[in-house]
Amino acid sequence: MKNVKSTSQLGTMPFNNLLWILLLCLLLPGWAFDCKNEKKCKTSRVHGLKTSDCYRMDFKEFPKCLPNNIEVIELSYNRIRKIYQEDLLLYTYLQHLYLTDNLIVQLKNNTFAGLEYLETLDLSVNGLLKVPPSIFQLPSLKNLYLSQNKNINIAESIEEAKPIGSTSLTKLDISYISEDSPVEFPDFKELPLIAFLNISGNAFDYLSPKHFAGLCNLQILDNSNVTAQYENNCDCWIINRWLTERNVDFHTFLCPLFSQECSNEQMDPEDLKVFEDCTEKFKNIKQWHVLKKVALWLGGVLLVILILGIGFVYFGCNKNRKTKKQPIMTLRERVELMHVENKVENIYI
Ligand SMILES: *[C@@H]1O[C@H](CO)[C@@H](O)[C@H](O)[C@H]1NC(C)=O
Ligand SMILES: *[C@@H]1O[C@H](CO)[C@@H](O)[C@H](O)[C@H]1NC(C)=O
Ligand SMILES: *[C@@H]1O[C@H](CO)[C@@H](O)[C@H](O)[C@H]1NC(C)=O
Repeated sequence: MKNVKSTSQLGTMPFNNLLWILLLCLLLPGWAFDCKNEKKCKTSRVHGLKTSDCYRMDFKEFPKCLPNNIEVIELSYNRIRKIYQEDLLLYTYLQHLYLTDNLIVQLKNNTFAGLEYLETLDLSVNGLLKVPPSIFQLPSLKNLYLSQNKNINIAESIEEAKPIGSTSLTKLDISYISEDSPVEFPDFKELPLIAFLNISGNAFDYLSPKHFAGLCNLQILDNSNVTAQYENNCDCWIINRWLTERNVDFHTFLCPLFSQECSNEQMDPEDLKVFEDCTEKFKNIKQWHVLKKVALWLGGVLLVILILGIGFVYFGCNKNRKTKKQPIMTLRERVELMHVENKVENIYI
């Protein structure tokens, strides 16, 4: 019995060692990523922002060796298929990320989580079918480009992101996303800051005034080459009138009926309510942003006062200590003191 046990122990020992070596081999490349083998992007300051230019450099993975405090990364026209949260957490100061024309087909919900300062995200010309809901909850995101992700379901993506709390999104480009079949027009009422919307080149399954009632801050609508069905024949004219009254810059939708036949048609009271709610939410978010700025500013001022205060106290203490501290004696002084001490000793002897 004893013999059997000892031989089996002997047998597992080398196996354990092998396992360790295997584990180390697996872990080491990720841990000590070799930056010598990564292509070098040109890094410089552009408009005061630290920018890495990796345009058309045949990257197949997100670069891992850019400076950690980089603010702009230009990665358009590469061959990146996947982006992981770990890649992006290397660059938490990122403000603008350009990924036009890569091979991205899927993003995880947490991929961009933690990018608190991200303002611009360009994912146009990729193969996305959906955008993760967390993108619409990024606290600083202002510009989102999703153009030419053919067949992306943007309506569903926004639906999944609800409720959207404090959003900053003001510019959204979803042009040319309906390649194979008409798409659903998204419900924008939880994104009331949107001022610029590009829907050009799309076919919508149907359009109705309610779709625009939730866009209460809209200023520019690029709707060139849009085709759509309408639920009611006069809806098209109601939309045209509504957008004109709100001074939106757009191309008049081509309507199936003549304008005169719909001159008495009005916006539905329900849609007017949506518009009012949107305006209310818009105000609240604006106020929230102003408050946040003021709070940040006040926090900054308090911090400076605190630092100055600590500085004064520290400086004061140091000064006191210095005055109390015996000055370092020169050799001559020490010799003189020795002399005096000797004399004192002499008196008492
Ligand atoms: C995605 O992430 C957000 C927070 O960033 C979270 O609120 C939401 O529940 C997540 N959604 C899914 C489908 O995991
Ligand atoms: C809207 O998107 C189309 C296609 O991507 C583009 O050609 C057009 O310039 C965009 N419109 C604006 C106003 O930027
Ligand atoms: C609209 O379509 C025409 C013809 O296909 C094209 O020339 C034009 O660039 C398109 N406009 C936009 C903004 O996509």
